[in-house]
Amino acid sequence: MNSDEKKLSRRGIIVGAGKLALGAAGIALVSSGGQNLVSIAEAKETPLPWPYEKIDPEETAKIAYDGWYKAYCSYAVASGILTPLQNKIGGPYSMLPVDGLRLGEGGIVGWGTICGTLLGATVATGFIAPYDVGKQVVNEVMQWYSDTQLPVFTPEKPKAEVRLKSVSNSPLCHISVNKWCQAAGKSFGSPERRDRCARLAADIAAHTVMLLNDWKDGKFVSTLKMPPALYGTTGQHNCNECHTKIPDVIG
Ligand code: HEC
Repeated sequence: MNSDEKKLSRRGIIVGAGKLALGAAGIALVSSGGQNLVSIAEAKETPLPWPYEKIDPEETAKIAYDGWYKAYCSYAVASGILTPLQNKIGGPYSMLPVDGLRLGEGGIVGWGTICGTLLGATVATGFIAPYDVGKQVVNEVMQWYSDTQLPVFTPEKPKAEVRLKSVSNSPLCHISVNKWCQAAGKSFGSPERRDRCARLAADIAAHTVMLLNDWKDGKFVSTLKMPPALYGTTGQHNCNECHTKIPDVIG
């Protein structure tokens, strides 16, 4: 009996040869559907946050870098964080088809809003950390993304040469990508820009994992305020990059 079957029988579900019958719900499934049934039951019964064990940020970074070339930024970061947990913990993580996050690509299907890497990090953190902790972790990741010379990660087998790092001063895909392109003199479609985003995905995934690991060790502290606490409304900190005169926020 494999572990999924054990879980099933613990819950009083009859395990037949090639067939599963879910007594209480009155559902019968042939064996090929059994895996899904187990997973859905598992996810429903595991309230958030899901169990977390420390994972290796370097492993996360590698998965995220490779993941970018499979399904871009949002998927890349989510898979970098969640794949090691699927392997280590299984359970609810295993039922998550991370591919569902690929629509976050290009700041959500190319609209250049939130950088997809941050969307991936946010969604993954939402499963892992309690709400209050998750908010602070994501706040720190957003700030780090905005303030740091990126990308930092160097892949073992780079798909393009990326020498230039840049600071976005913003969590928006449009601003982040275009500042880099201008500084590097590379187009959006260039292999270098693509690899820059893949490396950046590795950075964001690894940084998020480092913060989650700190939290797991009881060492995560954050005093960073969220923008509404500072400005009385939602927003990014670089007001004057978009507003020549910052308008008054209605108080
Ligand atoms: C990414 C660009 C961007 C950033 C960063 C940004 N804003 Fe805006 N904001 C806009 C745009 C565009 C509008 C709508 C057009 C306009 O009226 O200027 C707007 C509208 C507003 C408005 C509504 C009044 C108005 O004139 O339309 C307020 C108030 C405002 N922003 C305050 C802020 C503050 C405070 C910050 C920094 C915490 C900030 N914004 C950061 C782009 C930005």
